[in-house]
Amino acid sequence: MIDQGRQLAVRAAVRLDAGVNAEMALDQELQAVGIDHPHRPRATDLFYQTIRWQIRLDHALGRCLTRPLRDLQPEVRAILRLGALELLIEAHPAYAVVDTSVSLAAKLAPAAKGMVNAVLRRLSREGDGPDDEDPVQALAIRYAHPRWLVERWLARFGESDTVAIMQWDNTRPQLWLRVNRNKGTVAAYEDQFQVTGDHHPLVPGAIAVSAQPVRKLAGFREGWVSPQGVGSQLVASSLPLAAGWPVADVCAGHGTKALALLERVGKLDLLAGDLKPEALRLIGEEARRLGVRAPRTRSMDAAHPPTELHGSFQAVLVDAPCSGLGTLQRHPELRHRCQLDDVRRLAEDQARILSGSSELVAAGGVLQYAVCSLEVEETTGVVLDFLDHHPDFSASADQRWLLPCRERTEGFFIATLTRSRL
Ligand SMILES: C[S@@+](CC[C@H](N)C(=O)[O-])C[C@H]1O[C@@H](n2cnc3c(N)ncnc32)[C@H](O)[C@@H]1O
Repeated sequence: MIDQGRQLAVRAAVRLDAGVNAEMALDQELQAVGIDHPHRPRATDLFYQTIRWQIRLDHALGRCLTRPLRDLQPEVRAILRLGALELLIEAHPAYAVVDTSVSLAAKLAPAAKGMVNAVLRRLSREGDGPDDEDPVQALAIRYAHPRWLVERWLARFGESDTVAIMQWDNTRPQLWLRVNRNKGTVAAYEDQFQVTGDHHPLVPGAIAVSAQPVRKLAGFREGWVSPQGVGSQLVASSLPLAAGWPVADVCAGHGTKALALLERVGKLDLLAGDLKPEALRLIGEEARRLGVRAPRTRSMDAAHPPTELHGSFQAVLVDAPCSGLGTLQRHPELRHRCQLDDVRRLAEDQARILSGSSELVAAGGVLQYAVCSLEVEETTGVVLDFLDHHPDFSASADQRWLLPCRERTEGFFIATLTRSRL
């Protein structure tokens, strides 16, 4: 008997292997089975767990294979990784894992049945094998993070925090919601919709509920809640705001933070901008769901904003495009896709965007820069270089680091800068 959750996870992994992004790869498989399918949560969990642990799984499988894992048929690679996850990380009984993996191979890659059987049997006997002699490599494999990143984090944060960050990244993310303060408090939400969930000490308006499709969330249709990570909620709640202020969110994307700003202060004159017009398309509809005034939207390059807008905003939020390396818990695929060169290239884009956006700030106004990354190039590197070249700006408050191992949020960096004159 083939378990459908595993089959869906393997099929989605094959799509991912072909270069489709993780969320889309899984969605494309799940769409075929519908929103209420009973195997949906298990398929989702197995799919992301396998990506999360892939570095360790591939290392262990490599020891049991006679040819490189990358040379195998994608279906076989996905079946082996899933089997390895269940053996090494989830400690399922070996006979069950081997049996179900061979059945999956019989369906998706029949010629490889024998090989899947032999490799997983060997893996179940030998486990992970001995630690690598190089201690950095040993940590990278044990906690399934890319070596280049482990090396940097060890130098910056020391071993204990590096391990704590990696352990955090390897846990399953909770589904955090922002409760719309115009509807009521978290307690009122829990009361009205008979929901219970975790709370966060840093964000009183946040609640974590069990994983489920967004459209099925209690109170979603009525505008009570929106999915948003705790770190992202903190960014939106730390921008100085007041009623009537002209405010710009220049990298607004789908508008998660822009809408959070409007929930905080309804009478903002908010401009939501983004390079990609399609990203902004649904913000108006979301504003209606939440019962807030819709922001103006405008497709624009924040590195070169229109001159007629220069100097006209009291607060400007730059939620810059970044590596996302602070979000490896929710986006484990970035461990495999992001390289040091990407971090450096992004830092150059961020510098251009911050410098361009600074033109929008009025005298006495605030420029807030945020990225969900902890890398020096994308954080202090960008801000210190900006301050060097913009004497009309100063750091008005402490830069804020959200470290997953301390704040129990996704990793974020927030810098607030004030403009003294035009
Ligand atoms: C981190 S995401 C923003 C997420 C969004 N603020 C939210 O809370 O959901 C960064 C956004 O910057 C946009 N972007 C990239 N380069 C840009 C540029 N030069 N000017 C304006 N937006 C840009 C991307 O399209 C993306 O939507």
